[in-house]
Amino acid sequence: MKRRRFRSFAKINLGLEVVRRRDDGYHELKTLFAALSLHDIVGIEESGRGITIRSDHPDVPADETNLAYRAAEALQRIARTRGGLLITIEKRLAVGGGLGGGSSNAATVLRALDLIWDLRLGPAGLLEVARPLGADVPYFLIGGPALGLGRGDEIHPLPLKLPRRVLLVPGTGGVGTAAVFRRLRALGGPRRAPSRIDAFLRRLHGGPEDRPPSLRGLRNDLEPAALAEREELAEVARRVRRAGRASRAAMAAMSGSGSSFFLILENVEAERRASRALLADGLASVPCRFLSRRAYRSGFEISPDRA
Ligand code: C5P
Repeated sequence: MKRRRFRSFAKINLGLEVVRRRDDGYHELKTLFAALSLHDIVGIEESGRGITIRSDHPDVPADETNLAYRAAEALQRIARTRGGLLITIEKRLAVGGGLGGGSSNAATVLRALDLIWDLRLGPAGLLEVARPLGADVPYFLIGGPALGLGRGDEIHPLPLKLPRRVLLVPGTGGVGTAAVFRRLRALGGPRRAPSRIDAFLRRLHGGPEDRPPSLRGLRNDLEPAALAEREELAEVARRVRRAGRASRAAMAAMSGSGSSFFLILENVEAERRASRALLADGLASVPCRFLSRRAYRSGFEISPDRA
């Protein structure tokens, strides 16, 4: 089999509310996911024995601690194949950046092997394989705007049109998700503020489709904990918000448990203004687009002539 290549897209959380701590140690979340055009590239070919993972990034593990490895192993069991797999990961998403990179790579392997082996499981059939791998993995089976409930792994697609332009300020990693949740508990646990996401959803489902509800006011409950965990992030947050004000951004926030931030902008001029403001403050940014569910699907496989 020839090597096939797939785009493994990033996500951001437009809002993330921690509802309560559960008996299983996880936290009940309410979050709005959106997929970005920014992606890693995952190559897959049947070759050799066992599962081999290769990456151009030193922080990507090659063993079973890599979610992509465990995803491949789980699907091999279902497909009852014993042939070897070579999985290559070209890393463009910040590792440990709150963009779901590792989870996206795992979901990409599931979707790709479903295609390659013609298993026809689809997102619904892959869900039970995805869930034990990590709370973010189920989202990446479908992409596009979606509401995440439970551990963040109960996914409900949303009919949400987002502005085209997002400016990502990639984090440099180093904020572990588990550590951020621990810090949240040390800071007093989930806050008892009215849900902004509930209000957003009421407007989304009640209003005309061409007038999406405003993103302003959505919050990330993990931000104070992430900033307490890594002090230098507080300065990044200040600079990102300053650039947001200078460019009248619809939103300026941290994604997931950090350490990446993003700005949502109405047009290309605003994007340029924000990017210049960030650069003047010493922060690099990457312009990208939101992906609809359809674009997420149709952009999955890279056609062989675009090697
Ligand atoms: O599921 P995942 O491995 O991505 O989660 C990493 C860690 O983050 C978990 O071990 C848990 O400590 C914490 N977490 C949580 N509640 C969630 C998701 C993650 O407490 N909903």
